[in-house]
Amino acid sequence: MKRPILAANWKMNNGPSAAKAFMEAFLAGYSPRSDRTVIIFPPAVALTTVATSSANRKDVLAGVQNIHWAEKGAFTGEISATMAKDAGAKVVLVGHSERRHVFGETDAQCAKKCQAASRAGLSFMLCVGETMQQREAGETERLVTHQLREGVSQTQNLISADFILAYEPVWAIGTGLTASAGDASAVHTVLRSELRQMIGTRADEIPILYGGSVSPSNAAGLLAAPEVDGLLVGGASVEPSSWLAIAQA
Ligand code: 13P
Repeated sequence: MKRPILAANWKMNNGPSAAKAFMEAFLAGYSPRSDRTVIIFPPAVALTTVATSSANRKDVLAGVQNIHWAEKGAFTGEISATMAKDAGAKVVLVGHSERRHVFGETDAQCAKKCQAASRAGLSFMLCVGETMQQREAGETERLVTHQLREGVSQTQNLISADFILAYEPVWAIGTGLTASAGDASAVHTVLRSELRQMIGTRADEIPILYGGSVSPSNAAGLLAAPEVDGLLVGGASVEPSSWLAIAQA
């Protein structure tokens, strides 16, 4: 397996004060490791807190949950890739299922966000995943490969080690229903072969993370599954103790 990436997506949890307390507790228990990378995606208002707290840790990075594709301008409530970078982000999360399904984000918008992140010199983590209805209709492969191709349609020639893919089945997010290690592996294998068709052997360097109801009890099993190069964790990443258990899985 590649050097695993353990990513915490706090969603709309942990503002600056809670983020500071979290980072103190987490870093006190998590000794520096050269064999894996931790990424924390806090709400944007806590980005600087997380980045500052982990500034002397090469193995712990701050990321931003969402960006706008424009550099600046009249987009009330939005932040740009360069602003996120200035605040300490190293990675941008693009196309999370809540962005797609709650806020109506499209593949075309995801593509623009990947381009913006890349232009700013940030890594980008594109999320793909099917709903239960789509899974039951046998559409999983078609859908996730389509989301992948569309999401990086303008950045394909730029895909490199800075690109991270995350498979998050929508039906597994926040539901307690986790894909089995076998189910996750099967979809990751499809994504890997799609990446090979797109960029040849460079595809093998791209980490593919699994997300969806990951917990301290299932993290090690999922991480050990073929083609699972890391985990993207929501609910179980908000408290330092359960996150510490997962980060060390
Ligand atoms: P949960 O771990 O809460 O299911 O959320 C997964 C997720 O959406 C991470 O991005």
